Amino acid sequence: MTLSEYTTRPETSADDFGAFVAVAALDDLVVDTPIRVELDGRPPIMVVLTEDGVFAVDDTCSHQDTSLSAGWVEDCAVECPLHEACFDLRTGAAMGPPATQPIATHAVQVVDGLVSVWTGGADAASDAA
Ligand code: FES
Repeated sequence: MTLSEYTTRPETSADDFGAFVAVAALDDLVVDTPIRVELDGRPPIMVVLTEDGVFAVDDTCSHQDTSLSAGWVEDCAVECPLHEACFDLRTGAAMGPPATQPIATHAVQVVDGLVSVWTGGADAASDAA
């Protein structure tokens, strides 16, 4: 497994500023089993290892305030446990009702077996890489 296999850079806004923050050991992640990460002063983030890499998205469903990390992951999408809306882990796009709004995505980097999540926007992450 190479670093590029487990580095994702989703599309988000350019006006955000942040840093990569270590959130888990890659060996501790189970495929398609999300974890909830809480970083100081920020909305919770869901991190999940899939067959397509590690992804991080906002943990709160855009339909109502439900934790997506309590949902199900399959085919690079997460299904909300409350009303079953699905979101694409690569883009954050809502894939069907009742959710109509996307969820935010966060860049992920895996270095030396440590999974880190970018706390700012993707454009800022690209500048830092
Ligand atoms: S709370 Fe997630 S689909 Fe309704």
